[in-house]
Amino acid sequence: MLRIDNFSLQLKGSDGRILPVIEQVSLCVAKGSCLGIAGESGSGKSVLAMSIAGLLPTGSVHARSGVIDFDGCQILSASEAELRQLRGRKVGFIFQEPMTAMNPLMTLYDQIVETVYAHFPATSRADADARVMLALDRAGFNEPQKFLHSYPHQLSGGMRQRAMIAMALVLEPELIIADEPTTAIDAALQVQLLSGLRRQIEKDGRSMIFISHDLGVIRAVSDQLAVLYAGCLVESGDAVNILESPAHPYTADLVSALPRLVKERKLPVSIAGVLPAPDKKPAGCVYSDRCHHAQDICREKRPPLQNLSASWQISCFYPLHKGQV
Ligand SMILES: Nc1ncnc2c1ncn2[C@@H]1O[C@H](COP(=O)(O)OP(=O)(O)O)[C@@H](O)[C@H]1O
Ligand code: SF4
Ligand SMILES: [Mg+2]
Repeated sequence: MLRIDNFSLQLKGSDGRILPVIEQVSLCVAKGSCLGIAGESGSGKSVLAMSIAGLLPTGSVHARSGVIDFDGCQILSASEAELRQLRGRKVGFIFQEPMTAMNPLMTLYDQIVETVYAHFPATSRADADARVMLALDRAGFNEPQKFLHSYPHQLSGGMRQRAMIAMALVLEPELIIADEPTTAIDAALQVQLLSGLRRQIEKDGRSMIFISHDLGVIRAVSDQLAVLYAGCLVESGDAVNILESPAHPYTADLVSALPRLVKERKLPVSIAGVLPAPDKKPAGCVYSDRCHHAQDICREKRPPLQNLSASWQISCFYPLHKGQV
């Protein structure tokens, strides 16, 4: 369904600096499956997601290379008209900030139905209504009729996020990209809502990319996991295997930083140091200035992405194990 091969992206900084925000990322998403993308804030998750949907403003791009192939469509060379067709119909995007992505002057119903008419102008009113109600139901809205004519500011944060999900679902796209879609909803509801979305996607043979810094939620909904650090793919493979036995020191540090269950009486451990800015990355391994396992070679050379097993890739000179789990 989606194949990203050796994708690199340089953006223009506001002061003219060239920022290598994504470096040689390769990933695949199969039909009916969900890929989780994890990494600290600033690691390039949103920029990668927007690149897949052709949503990055061309004015901010300095250079792009590699391949993003979505069901035969080459995103990097597609025209704006082709990308418009793709968005909504084939790729639905659920944004991180519903308040900025929704039109404050339009009711919930009008925002969702507008997407239907934009792509299928000849849709009858009854069909459009049926699509809107189905999308709201799939997005987990209880009694959607009550809120159809509410404006975004009259909805709770959680409802606005559900509205965004409904907007992305209304055209039944083949791929849904959800960029931290449920941060305003408590953890238990997040898992419930996303698991429902996940089941639906699997049943219909659609696919999902789910972006989050919350590894617990990622584990609950994803089949595959990709861990990004400073724009580089550091580990990818089966989500449960990776989260139970991370092989890359950064993934292991992210897992240790997860808040432990209360009964374990352990406090979350934060990772010392900060993510480097895109134009200040270390010359060797991007994680070398924070990694407890770093050796001299790590500061000199960038570790290539290598197969730990057929379905487990890692970019590290000293993996924590050999992929036998
Ligand atoms: N339009 C832009 N122009 C220049 N730099 C950007 C732009 N958008 C994001 N960045 C930079 O790209 C990097 C990755 O950002 P982002 O994808 O938003 O991270 P994440 O979603 O993982 O938190 C950050 O260093 C950010 O400052
Ligand atoms: S390559 Fe070296 S610095 Fe980088 S993650 Fe592996 S051990 Fe740490
Ligand atoms: Mg983001």
